[in-house]
Amino acid sequence: MSSLKIVDKLTPLFNSVKSKTGMDISNFKHTFLERRIHYRMRILGVDDYADYLNLLSSNHDEPKMLYMALSINVTKFFRDPSVWDFLDNIAIPELITASNLRSISAWSCACASGEEPHSVSILLDEYYKQKQITYSVFATDISQKAIEHSKEGIYVDANLINVSSERMDENFTKISDGKFQVKIAIRNKITYQKIDMVKGIPKTFDIIFCRNVLIYYDKDTHESLFKMFHSKLKSNGLLVLGQDESMIGTKGNQYFELLDVKNRVYKKINV
Ligand SMILES: C[S@@+](CC[C@H](N)C(=O)[O-])C[C@H]1O[C@@H](n2cnc3c(N)ncnc32)[C@H](O)[C@@H]1O
Repeated sequence: MSSLKIVDKLTPLFNSVKSKTGMDISNFKHTFLERRIHYRMRILGVDDYADYLNLLSSNHDEPKMLYMALSINVTKFFRDPSVWDFLDNIAIPELITASNLRSISAWSCACASGEEPHSVSILLDEYYKQKQITYSVFATDISQKAIEHSKEGIYVDANLINVSSERMDENFTKISDGKFQVKIAIRNKITYQKIDMVKGIPKTFDIIFCRNVLIYYDKDTHESLFKMFHSKLKSNGLLVLGQDESMIGTKGNQYFELLDVKNRVYKKINV
């Protein structure tokens, strides 16, 4: 059976996943969907696609299990450190000057278990302490479970390998061996909401982080997301993508100027 046929056969079941999990997987990249379906089939010991499709419609739990296999929440504090150095040393200072900012608003649109919005809050808190520039962080994810984890702000050593000892001392409280909680002052700057970013939100920001989530979606979804992000950014606003993500092959470059190719930091083209 060709790979396209698998996805075609799955199409009627997108609704079943949506009604049981709230997740719309119809615009996921076909290759990504297929990899995760094969993964579920291996776990279940099912060899035939048709059998898996039957199971997906007859078994109460499988739509949820497939959804969990699709929502990979892997993340880290200050993931890809050079991105954060570029933001800190170049992009944010330029944004502050260009827009004469006294307050910065940021959106982490696929926040997973919270390492990204907490990293943003820690970084912007340093601007607050040094330059009295206030800030707020809006954190969203399609997974309520991920948001609940993020709200607690409790992390183990493995999530924290990119955090400098100065930032550890300043922003974390040790709660037991190898376990740390982000300090309340940093957590309090973050507002959470369960949101499907593809549907957009009625707010605007100075910086949008959309990292390591575009990879799940097809090109049409990328096009509409870039357009939406442009409309949600204030003048000179920054868009940060994941290091393996780009606007190549889309109309994104009509809306954004690439500030740094390695770090995938883009600046809104003001119209
Ligand atoms: C790999 S994590 C990325 C975390 C973080 N942005 C980073 O770069 O480390 C991907 C996250 O995207 C979330 N996600 C997937 N589709 C989404 C959507 N349409 N809206 C909001 N979040 C979504 C998943 O639930 C998961 O938590």
